[in-house]
Amino acid sequence: MSTTVRLGIVGIGNMGNGHAQNILQGKIPRMELGAVCDTDPEKLKRCPKTPGFATHHEMLKSGLIDAIMVATPHYDHTVIGIDAIAAGVHTLIEKPLSVHKADCQKLIAAYEKRTRKDLVFAEMFNQRTDPRYRKLRELLRSGELGEIRRVNWIITDWYRTETYYASGGWRATWAGEGGGVLMNQCPHQLDLMQWLFGLPKKVRAHCQFGKWHDIEVEDACTAYLEYANGATGVFITTTGEAPGTNRLEVACDRGRVVVEGDGLQWIRTTEKVSDHLRTSKQAFNCPDRWEVKVPTNGWGGQHNEVLQNFADAILDGKELIGPAPEGIGGVELGNAMLMSTLWDRTVELPLDAAAVAAEYQKLIAKSRHKAKPAAKAGGDDFASSFKGMK
Ligand SMILES: NC(=O)c1ccc[n+]([C@@H]2O[C@H](COP(=O)([O-])OP(=O)(O)OC[C@H]3O[C@@H](n4cnc5c(N)ncnc54)[C@H](O)[C@@H]3O)[C@@H](O)[C@H]2O)c1
Repeated sequence: MSTTVRLGIVGIGNMGNGHAQNILQGKIPRMELGAVCDTDPEKLKRCPKTPGFATHHEMLKSGLIDAIMVATPHYDHTVIGIDAIAAGVHTLIEKPLSVHKADCQKLIAAYEKRTRKDLVFAEMFNQRTDPRYRKLRELLRSGELGEIRRVNWIITDWYRTETYYASGGWRATWAGEGGGVLMNQCPHQLDLMQWLFGLPKKVRAHCQFGKWHDIEVEDACTAYLEYANGATGVFITTTGEAPGTNRLEVACDRGRVVVEGDGLQWIRTTEKVSDHLRTSKQAFNCPDRWEVKVPTNGWGGQHNEVLQNFADAILDGKELIGPAPEGIGGVELGNAMLMSTLWDRTVELPLDAAAVAAEYQKLIAKSRHKAKPAAKAGGDDFASSFKGMK
């Protein structure tokens, strides 16, 4: 019985190297860096003492790893993920699970028909470790907040410069990245939306393509959502606004919760809003309310906590923070926002996966991905890219 997990990381770029260094520095108990893989030999030099491979096929065959993390550009998540599952290696996929719903389905189908039944299949949903969102989910699930009436998320603190978009040839292209702010920055919030509130039934969205940057994909989106119980939602995001906002506001039958900055603020009504609205004999009074300070501690363990949880799931059977099959929800929500824009109409969920994939094929066919040269971004400020956490 093994006591450590030997992880192989595919893609030693910004994120993959970040994970690799955390493991090498011993920050993840019971996890070792077994091997690294990158198609760019220069990137392998970032982990000079770790065996390096040019392809994930060689790494999977090496016998040096028990588990794999896929931290490559997004289309390869599907391909490498399927190969890893077929090889019987525990698999952790960076967000997003795949670019579109049909690719997610392929990956999930590979997992469902795996031969190794104890295989662990997870996604890097690091923002699920944030105590504010965990607490909100707990309050929603316990019924304390009552029925959800409205959800608003303004997530505009994903500011990115033109230099960022020029830093990798795959970035911000239909053929390379598969989208813009909805595909790279917002998978965290799109996952949290479905994790907290479930998926809406209808989406009407307006994405704007290259509104602020010289890119072909969306760098701004405003979406209107409708849920099965009649609740509505608005989701606003962009990478072109500074200073940005990260404010999640949830109006429920027992008041309003705001997640913004530190902690969670809940203005709790002393009775159900729906009861007061129907039964009050006065025209203008509001339900009495209490301010409830819900304590939360910090931002959670984020990436390292998910890595630790992955190791614990492999070694001890611990419940996963982010089971990979759940990743299809956030992808479908982002796809719905894009399709609503392209089709210029309200779309209903569940989406027709084949229709979405066909739309992607059209976008890929006209993508300028191959024409755009990769340039180097100045300054090593990758850590500051996690602003959308706060
Ligand atoms: N969880 C988070 O907070 C977070 C933050 C940033 C990025 N990410 C995700 O991490 C992934 C990588 O993003 P990044 O910013 O590190 O990109 P990057 O461009 O810096 O790195 C990608 C690396 O993958 C390599 N590569 C490409 N195709 C490959 C293949 N087929 N086999 C092996 N190596 C290959 C490239 O050479 C490059 O070194 C993406 O899925 C991205 O969305 C997650």
